[in-house]
Amino acid sequence: MRPDRVSIFEVGPRDGLQNEVQVSTKDKIRLIDDLTLAGVTRIETGSFVSPKWVPQMADSDAVFAGINRQAQVRYSALTPNMQGLDAAITAGADEVAVFASASEGFSQRNINCSVEESIARFIPLVDKANTLGLPVRGYVSCTLGCPYDGDIALTEVVRVCDILYRLGVYEISLGDTIGIGTADQARRMVEAVSSKVPMEQLALHFHDTRGQALANILACLDLGIGTIDSSVAGLGGCPYAKGASGNLATEDLVYMLHGLGIDTGINLPALARAGDTISAAIGKPSGAKTALALSH
Ligand code: HMG
Ligand code: MG
Repeated sequence: MRPDRVSIFEVGPRDGLQNEVQVSTKDKIRLIDDLTLAGVTRIETGSFVSPKWVPQMADSDAVFAGINRQAQVRYSALTPNMQGLDAAITAGADEVAVFASASEGFSQRNINCSVEESIARFIPLVDKANTLGLPVRGYVSCTLGCPYDGDIALTEVVRVCDILYRLGVYEISLGDTIGIGTADQARRMVEAVSSKVPMEQLALHFHDTRGQALANILACLDLGIGTIDSSVAGLGGCPYAKGASGNLATEDLVYMLHGLGIDTGINLPALARAGDTISAAIGKPSGAKTALALSH
């Protein structure tokens, strides 16, 4: 059944900015504070990964230190290993996220290890975070296709989601990393995963490379999906998924949800202003169609 409220998990400052030209720490902080003022309550603020792999995220500790934190907002961070977790704890992240892949090819390129090795790495990480009361999110990439391995068996997607969920992550975010899936396929994938992970613990994380993200989300909303990841101004992509464009733009998602009578708690004009400001800092027009329409 379609929900009357959707929780938006904003990934622009991380998934977006990790794949844009280097943005100053000050502009990142401004973006996160603007998102907070627009009513966004879950913001992926940075990433504690190797700076050799993703130099754009090397200042995540300074970003966490500089933001004007609000109690109602959860500021989260990506953590691939214990070193990342420890850095996220020091920075004061409210929540962390591990990221696995449903495909071997992407796992190797993205985190330099196999899917099984990554899961073995996550066990102590999730244990430590949970012991400290830090919620852990789990991403599964390439759920609708992989840039290296092509089609991915649904059984493999379900298997990796099931393992991560049993490790103790509170939510699984299902990534269409290269925006390759279409609506029926997305729906079938979510149905399959929900045989192992409760629908309330699933989130959609669809990149919009082929313009399918909104349609795919709409196809899954009726299944009862209540959390969706998106990126303000449609920022970003993934450095290890060539050709992947940004996540669905948050402005376009909010416009659709509000039109369907679904509450998000987000002020759309304020959100669009946040997107316009960061787009200007990067030097490109906003990737959100709704923001362009609002600016005329
Ligand atoms: P590695 O080279 O195999 O790691 O990289 P290592 O353990 O052998 O260490 C090598 C060096 O990295 C050492 O430094 C470590 O200290 C350092 P050195 O001794 O050479 O000076 N290192 C670190 N530095 C900072 N923070 C850390 C860290 N760990 C090791 N946490 C590693 C393995 C996982 C670290 C690397 O491959 C990496 O950082 N990968 C991250 C790639 C990434 O961030 N990709 C984008 C995010 S995922 C994504 O966008 C998909 C998602 O949006 C969902 C979707 O769309 O599908 C989530
Ligand atoms: Mg992503």
